Amino acid sequence: MTFSDARVEAALDAGDPDIGTLWELCMLFEFDREETADGIARWLGPAEGLSILDCACGSGFPALELIRRGYDVTCTDGSELMLAHFRRNAGVEGLGVRPELVLWEDLPRRYAGQFDVVMNRGGGNYIYAGAWDEEGLADQSAMAEAIGQWVACVRPGGRFYVDITRAEDLERREEQSVVHPTLRIGRHTVDIAETISIDRSSGIRTWWSSLTVDGTERTFQRRSRYLRHDQLVDILEGCGLTDVRKTPVRGEYYDIYTGVRA
Ligand SMILES: C[S@@+](CC[C@H](N)C(=O)[O-])C[C@H]1O[C@@H](n2cnc3c(N)ncnc32)[C@H](O)[C@@H]1O
Repeated sequence: MTFSDARVEAALDAGDPDIGTLWELCMLFEFDREETADGIARWLGPAEGLSILDCACGSGFPALELIRRGYDVTCTDGSELMLAHFRRNAGVEGLGVRPELVLWEDLPRRYAGQFDVVMNRGGGNYIYAGAWDEEGLADQSAMAEAIGQWVACVRPGGRFYVDITRAEDLERREEQSVVHPTLRIGRHTVDIAETISIDRSSGIRTWWSSLTVDGTERTFQRRSRYLRHDQLVDILEGCGLTDVRKTPVRGEYYDIYTGVRA
């Protein structure tokens, strides 16, 4: 399968693939960036006068796409490794945006009540709270705490956008393994295999991946405690959000929940 994607090609050209490179590649299998950004933009409404915080901007999706569509997006992430990918992608897009290195725990001190919209998407990022760059395990209270830190940055009456693993995927009992077709991107050949397993007795979800670029394999493992949708809704309402609902957003791969700060 041949892919033409300037951002992913630049990531591979940079050499030494890491978890950020893997994330960029996995997105290719999950959704079309432009279609999803259009879907998010439809939910956001007109760009004029709207201030947005993407507090897990990672390597730049959907912040860069939204900025290109005229939105005013403040971009933060707690990982210098991911921000290096963001800066390279912003360069590929010809955008001068400067993301900031901010941990979720420092967000309220800096941005309390400031934004019309706060968003955090990427597969339920709270499950990786503090455990993305290195293998670790966020506990249930760390997840609720992280969500509270994001919600604190929404102005009263402002809106919140977060995603979660699709309900049907959380229901699966069997291990999900997939070997993706070989990708040819620029001068690179890439093979990816992924396995997701959920251990219901411990409530732990493990995402294991093998990434082989030009014949060299690296493996990654991230463990997280999964959250059910009803638990996410309870946390969102507990943070003072009203009108919490599952919101269909065209192009999104995960399920989306939105709410309004009272
Ligand atoms: C799965 S990536 C999602 C990136 C992007 N939003 C997307 O959809 O492609 C999760 C991001 O959350 C960030 N993150 C995890 N724990 C964090 C923390 N405690 N503070 C700030 N960022 C954190 C990681 O650095 C990573 O970039």
